[in-house]
Parts: sequence; structure tokens; C-alpha cells
Amino acid sequence: MKNINNYNFKDKKTLIRVDFNIPMNEELEIVDDIRIQTTLPTIMKVLNDGGSVILLSHLGRPKGKYNPKYSLFHLVSHLQKITNLNIKFSNDCINEEAKRKSSELKPKEMLLLENVRFHKEELLGDEDFAKELSILADVFINDAFGVSHRNHASITKICKYFKDKMMGYVMEKEVNSTDRIIRFPIPPFTTILGGAKVSDKIELIEGLLNKVDAMLIGGGMSNTFLKAMGANIGSSKIEKDKIEIAKNILNKAKDRNIKFRLPSDVYISNRFHNDGEINISTSMNVPEKAIALDIGPQTQQLFGEEIKKSKTILWNGPMGAYEMPNFSEGTRTIAEDISIATDKGAFSLVGGGDTAAAVHLLKYDNKVSHISTGGGALLSYISKGFLEGIQALKE
Ligand code: 3PG
Repeated sequence: MKNINNYNFKDKKTLIRVDFNIPMNEELEIVDDIRIQTTLPTIMKVLNDGGSVILLSHLGRPKGKYNPKYSLFHLVSHLQKITNLNIKFSNDCINEEAKRKSSELKPKEMLLLENVRFHKEELLGDEDFAKELSILADVFINDAFGVSHRNHASITKICKYFKDKMMGYVMEKEVNSTDRIIRFPIPPFTTILGGAKVSDKIELIEGLLNKVDAMLIGGGMSNTFLKAMGANIGSSKIEKDKIEIAKNILNKAKDRNIKFRLPSDVYISNRFHNDGEINISTSMNVPEKAIALDIGPQTQQLFGEEIKKSKTILWNGPMGAYEMPNFSEGTRTIAEDISIATDKGAFSLVGGGDTAAAVHLLKYDNKVSHISTGGGALLSYISKGFLEGIQALKE
């Protein structure tokens, strides 16, 4: 695979697959543009070399047909503003307009193509569709880490139609950071997992059990583990069909001598609302009508002690209903403890949409080593050790 740093893009039309799948509000305004901002160094490298840029992305899940809500046209003025460049737009990614506008592109010019997922062939990984896309450019860069676990036409199939193909800077940074976690973790390695469901994280947990020294579990998913240990979890939600898997994981962790820690106490409430009544309960005996909404003070302290001893830290999933201020303390103390460990020299990686949003909301963005732009892609890379999009660049 070629390296973006050593490549001279002069006079090259460069197709950059980006992940501009960004949150938009009801008025179709951008809520958070971090995924655009992080791609700018790759775009600027091509333009500064004297190449031209053709941007290709998905937005949302439009199911293979046009939907104005998911049009990338909504991003044009923002892109113009942050790059100070005039951005051309094509209302489709493979039609005559796309072909004409990309062939007319001059060095240092940029074209944004319409949402690639308006074509069902993208999701199907259709080879002919991938070939049509490849006709637009001389060089291909994949900078879409967040979607590189998908076998989609513009991620994997397209690679075979380019001799010159490489990772962009976003991809390089994500891969290097994740490799520090999965390939070269300096012990003690602690993983903190939270979020609502165990089912989303089974493969991740299984993959990590061979690598970590400690695994700290909070958030909604801890209830399924607590139930598997015989706890009364009150009215907290669990995944009944995952209790056996949870038991299995508990046994494996024990066999491997991993510090597998669940909450010992929890903040509970009579309703899922910031203004509900708040109490603290032991996690093994939550009253019948109560729901656990955050890890309790004793758990925060125990988790914190483990985190602050660590040299490698991976955090995925909030500890509770952090979006409600009264139940954000557990998530905030984890962020704080990770920032202390990072300050002392630990390498910390925070990933997943909710976790990145929580870190952002609680203003810890600059206090961890790396915040991944990927959700499913990050988890997939950690679990399997490879990403389909990167494999395809190497073939
Ligand atoms: C993401 O937001 O995680 C990526 O853009 C992938 O989106 P997808 O889950 O719709 O493929």
C-alpha cells in the first residue's frame, strides 16, 4: 500500500472516501462537525500538492434511494466556510454530471459527490458500481475509518480498480491508536465498558479477555451480568437471552485471572427522569420498583483506583444516563480518572458514538490520548484485529 506522506498528488484526481455521517438536527443543520474537521489534513495534503479532490461519503441509512433529508448538499456551505474554498457539487455520484464535473476539475479544486448510499449497489458491494466510481479519479484514499468494517462498494470493492491507493491521515491515526491498544498494550491494561446492551459488545469482550488485566463494567449492560450472578436488579432493564452468555464471560474472566469488576453500588430512581427521586442501593439488591441509572460512589472509587494504576486504557460506553445531569457523575468520574492516568503517562483511547459525545459534553476532549471517530468500526477492529477496508487497500 502507498503512503500518503510520500505520495505526490500533483495533477492527480483523487477520490477520497470520507465518513461525513454527521449528526444533523430537524432543520438539517450540522450538530457536530468533528468528522469533517478531522478529514481536513488529508484534503489539504492533496490540494497543496497540486491535485484535485473528489469527496465521496454516505450520510445516514437512506436504504438505497434518494432522500433529501440525507443529501450531502446540506454540507456544502459548511465545507466552503471551513476550507475557504469554492466547493463544486454533483447531484449523483456516478451519473453524467459526476463524470463531467470530475473530468473538468482543475488542480486545487474540490468536488463533493452526492450520498453514495442513494444507490443500493453501494450496500450490496456491487463490483460494477465500484468500477463506475473508480472512473472518476486516478488515485483512491480511504479516510473513512468509521465505515471501514463494512464490505461496501466504495470501501472494499473499489480498491481493485486503483493501482495507487492508500489510507488518509484519519485512518492512519485511528489505526495507530487502536494498534497501541490491541497489539502493543503496556500493562496494566484496563478496559471500561458501559452502555445499554451486552449484546452489542459480546465479541468485543471475548476479544479483550485475552488481553486485559482489568475489565470494569458499568451502565445498563452491567445489570445483565449482575442478574447472572443472582442479583435482584429491581426494574432495571436486562437482556434475558444474554444471561447464559454473561455467565460464560464471568467464568472465562475467572479462569484467566482477570479483575472483572461490576458495580457494587448504584444510584437508583423511581423513574427514568432527571427529577426522579434519587437513592443509593447495593447493586445486588435494588428495590423492586427502582431502576439503576448510574454507578454509585463506592464503585466510582474502586473503578477509579484501578484506572489510575493503568498504563493502557480503553473506554467504550457511558456508566449511566449521563445525558441527565443527576446521573452523569459516574461517567464524569471515569473521564476524570482517565485524564489523571493519561496525565501520568498512560495511553487512553475513548471510542464509540455515545462515549465520545459524553467526553465532549463533560469537556474532557483534550485530556485523553485519542478519541476515535468510529463506533462499530472501532469495536470491530478491536474484536477481530482487522478492518475490511484496510485489507482491501493492501490487496
Ligand atoms: C458510523 O456512524 O458509525 C459510520 O458512519 C457507519 O455508519 P453505518 O453504521 O450506518 O454503516
